[in-house]
Amino acid sequence: MKTLVVSGGFPLKGEMAIAGAKNVALKACVAALLTDEELILHNVPRIQDVYSILEVLKSLGVRSVFKHNTLRVSAKHLATTTVPLEIGASLRASSLAMGPLIARHGQANIPNPGGCRIGARPIDRQIDGLRKMGASILYNSTDGYFHATALRLSGTDYTFTKNTHTGTEALLLAAVLAKGRTILSNAAQEVEVDDLISILSRMGAKIKRTSQRQVVIDGVDALHGTEYTLMPDRNEEVTFAIAAAITGGEIMIHNSQRKHLGPFLRAFRKAGAMWKPCGEATTKYWIKGNVRPTIITTAPYPGFMTDWQGPWAVLMTQAFGNSTIHETVFENRFSYVSELMKMGANIEFFDPPVKHPEEFYNFNWEDHKNELHQGILIHGPTKLHNAVVEMRDLRAGATLVLAALAASGTTYIQGIEHIDRGYEKIEERLTSLGASIRRVTRGDGV
Ligand code: EPZ
Repeated sequence: MKTLVVSGGFPLKGEMAIAGAKNVALKACVAALLTDEELILHNVPRIQDVYSILEVLKSLGVRSVFKHNTLRVSAKHLATTTVPLEIGASLRASSLAMGPLIARHGQANIPNPGGCRIGARPIDRQIDGLRKMGASILYNSTDGYFHATALRLSGTDYTFTKNTHTGTEALLLAAVLAKGRTILSNAAQEVEVDDLISILSRMGAKIKRTSQRQVVIDGVDALHGTEYTLMPDRNEEVTFAIAAAITGGEIMIHNSQRKHLGPFLRAFRKAGAMWKPCGEATTKYWIKGNVRPTIITTAPYPGFMTDWQGPWAVLMTQAFGNSTIHETVFENRFSYVSELMKMGANIEFFDPPVKHPEEFYNFNWEDHKNELHQGILIHGPTKLHNAVVEMRDLRAGATLVLAALAASGTTYIQGIEHIDRGYEKIEERLTSLGASIRRVTRGDGV
């Protein structure tokens, strides 16, 4: 088993450049299915999820060349519209191939991505939207595939029942080649969606965000290749900003995008941590004095992002007082809590009173399990100490690395394949800031 060995207690100091956004990169790769021409993408992070989506696309006949952080992708030699089960089922983003394959080739066979460590994560909202656009989609529980066909997708007026980030992107990737106009209402407004809209527009699509929650697409007959530089990763910036605060250090972050981090920056200041613009795309993060407790509720954009709540919980273990986090997007996103408790954190689960949970929560209420809770109460401050812990999903991984950086002693973090999904060269970059962190495989004399 691969393990990260982290000796905590060192203030992180120095400069860090944020990598390209994982949650744009995956969809930009899928967008290559919409044309025979080449997409040239810059600022693509070299992370496992990108390699995985390229594997999915390669199984369809898509060719790619990845040099440094520039990726050239071409679907000119597409050979099939069926994604192999063992490759597709492990990566949720593979379901995004359905729209472009139906739009261009009239059919798609995609494995059900199924749930993962943070919840059921069904794709009912995008399936519903594609059906409204004229696709016939059958789910075969025997082979675990969605079998989709359509003579030609037609534009439609579709209103999402609830916010869905990739669901909105899935319908954008289909509507751009559909016949006629599609109006998506109650559409996600995460900034990563707007980066995908920019890429599709550069490819010749006719897309306009007409209001915060509405996007209008006029289908065209064909799209062409383009060259594009992906936006930086919001989750990386939040992770490294908290790393500065939790270790009592100071980090200058380049490729910073303060305009997309509003709720985080406000909470960061409320918690007694400091940030300062040092140029258009550079922000300095540090802490002065004690950490103060906060009350956080996650929400789709423009709210406090669900991906930030784990790293935030680590900072709140150092707050002088009680803090709460109410997770409203996913139904099972506190897997890191048990691991933080092994390191000395004092955290209780609770269920915040909600009048109409079936409407209030972003997940489908039928996916809710009674044994799971949507709130945590963090008593602080508690001294974190070393332990052997295991990460169970990508952001929980970042959470445990942050805790280990702040803890006394040497912590062993197992399951590090999760963090490799979303953070490029994590130990190298943290080491450059003064962290003591190394990767070992069992038998390396851990
Ligand atoms: C995207 O997930 C991101 N992943 C997530 O980042 C991010 O946390 C999330 O959006 C919220 O911003 C990618 O972009 C690859 P949703 P996504 O569709 O699209 C439920 C990370 O760590 N739902 O907005 O899956 C769903 O289960 C990852 O980088 C349905 O029930 O999120 C979830 O509870 C984690 N049916 C909630 O809605 C659907 O058809 C929000 O899902 C679609 C979603």
